[in-house]
Amino acid sequence: MLEDIKEVYYSEEQLHQIVERLGRQISNDYKGKNLMLVSILKGSVVFMADLMREITVPCSIDFMCVSSYGSGTENKTGVVKIVKDLDINVENYDILLVEDILDSGRTLDYVRNLLIDRHPSSIKICTLLDKPERRAVDLYADYSGAEVPDEFVVGYGLDYAEKYRNLPFIGVLKEEIYTN
Ligand code: IMP
Ligand code: MG
Repeated sequence: MLEDIKEVYYSEEQLHQIVERLGRQISNDYKGKNLMLVSILKGSVVFMADLMREITVPCSIDFMCVSSYGSGTENKTGVVKIVKDLDINVENYDILLVEDILDSGRTLDYVRNLLIDRHPSSIKICTLLDKPERRAVDLYADYSGAEVPDEFVVGYGLDYAEKYRNLPFIGVLKEEIYTN
């Protein structure tokens, strides 16, 4: 698995510092609120597990599993399939969507609009990684861990064709992995 990685972008230690900072910001901003973290599966699973332990205010958690990609590297259509919906009624909750990476923004835009229709008290976005130059819809993250250039990254929950999610760092794949 390691031999498929061209370069490490964020080490375990750097990721820990990023997640600590996000946890501090969120804990400050959500004092006295009714926070619910909504993890967008599967990519955000590692980030979610670390982030929730850096949050010092009470919170609920729930999971939504969406799929848009198949095994390619791009969401060209904006078609998003809800594979698993939330269990909890979000009314009166301050929702924070927890996402691994904001790319075109189409996935989160769809999920955000879907949840707005269910009348939460508020809804914001926390993404570990952001590729701002790839944005195709008008969407921004309220909390963002780090920006990455327009390259396909894996690890720390992010996959290519369901592989590499268990790498403890964020790295960029060698091109030959997804061109052959
Ligand atoms: P969007 O709808 O184009 O913003 O795509 C968001 C989703 O695409 C993310 O939640 C990821 O699952 C996936 N994705 C986008 N870029 C990458 C990447 O560089 N590596 C791994 N997954 C990615
Ligand atoms: Mg994802």
